[in-house]
Amino acid sequence: MPVTCVYGMQWGDEGKGRIVDLLAAKSDIVVRYQGGANAGHTVIVGEEKYVLHLLPSGVIQPNTINIVGNGVVVDPWILMHEVDHLAGRGISLDGRLLVSDRAHVVLPHHKTMDQALETLRGADALGTTSRGIGPAYGDKFRRAGMRVADLLHPDRYEEILQANIGAWNAILDKAGMDPIDVASVIDETRAIGERIRPYAADTAAVLLEAMKAGRAILCEGAQGFGLDVDHGSYPFVTSSTTGPAGVSAGTGLPPTALDRIVGIVKAYTTRVGAGPFPTQDTGPSGRHLGEAGHEFGATTGRPRDCGWFDGVLARRAAFTQGATAISLMKLDCLSGLDEIKLCTSYELDGRRVDAPPAWAGDWERCTPVYETFPGWSEDISGARRFEDLPAAARTYVRRVQEVLETPVEVISVGAEREQFIPLEGGIPVPV
Ligand code: IMP
Repeated sequence: MPVTCVYGMQWGDEGKGRIVDLLAAKSDIVVRYQGGANAGHTVIVGEEKYVLHLLPSGVIQPNTINIVGNGVVVDPWILMHEVDHLAGRGISLDGRLLVSDRAHVVLPHHKTMDQALETLRGADALGTTSRGIGPAYGDKFRRAGMRVADLLHPDRYEEILQANIGAWNAILDKAGMDPIDVASVIDETRAIGERIRPYAADTAAVLLEAMKAGRAILCEGAQGFGLDVDHGSYPFVTSSTTGPAGVSAGTGLPPTALDRIVGIVKAYTTRVGAGPFPTQDTGPSGRHLGEAGHEFGATTGRPRDCGWFDGVLARRAAFTQGATAISLMKLDCLSGLDEIKLCTSYELDGRRVDAPPAWAGDWERCTPVYETFPGWSEDISGARRFEDLPAAARTYVRRVQEVLETPVEVISVGAEREQFIPLEGGIPVPV
């Protein structure tokens, strides 16, 4: 399968980094196509834990070329910090990292603006990661942004920065806040441009050539479908197209390129930041999930809200994005619960609803309709075949597969690289 996409089907934090690491072992190229340093992708190899924000999770596999595509908003300081950090841990990216010259740059003032805009939203704050994502994408789409190609041309970017910061300062002025000092942003930008120069490239050309040559390309999504700017719980979303629909725009590969689309879901649901979360459980079961799953944000350290599997959200994520296979993560975290709930539809104003409502306020008022399953108490972290799972766990995951109408081809039962059950063709249906 030469071109594969891995994307999140919930509100992020599904465990994409883990699956990308797994698939990267069989890939030549791994490319990020959207988002920025708001992501936190964790890969655990033996005793070593790697948390990546901007670099594709393929970097941990030694033989991959890694690309930061044009659809990503690149914070060059964080990028270089990650490169240096990995080098310090013996992972060199020399000759195997490329950054698109078309990617937009997150500048220090984008982070300031992210926080200022959150402050101005007051009680309606979105709970962003403060990584400058919204303002950087905002600049991109109002055609006032700075791209990696500009960063390499100090003669060009002074003018771009003057105009860009001038517009933001007008907002800060209205909000009674201190203006951004253009000169200091220009100073900070100069040095980082030189560091990023060796990595900058026309990555679309590299990817197209690789595709023609039949090389295996893995497209790594960040965040999740519920945070998608079009399909998610707007405005409580991130500012990019999180699913495979974003691959073509964010890499330059044609829309027909994808052969395989792997949707990632946890066996339950979590969310950070504000916005609807109908299946949240604030009682002992939710606490169990938070503790068993170590549910703290990899980027911000914020505790994640936890709850039951939301089949309405995940089904929509599978259908609109064309998932061909599902990876079901963290099944082991359900061990020890007396009963397990699975939401198959919502109720809103006395009516059954099978898709997320457009308005976040309505989505918030939805009551989940649950199917309830018996739990299991066994430790399943050693299971490597579907038959090794307790009957109750098999029943639950089989139902998840039915609800998503898509084969579950991987079940993860622990954080280590080898702790998963491969299921080619999906979970066998009993006859
Ligand atoms: P932003 O992407 O920083 O603008 O944040 C917008 C929303 O997306 C907030 O609710 C964040 O908590 C959420 N978000 C952004 N990145 C991630 C992620 O990697 N995992 C989970 N939530 C995220």
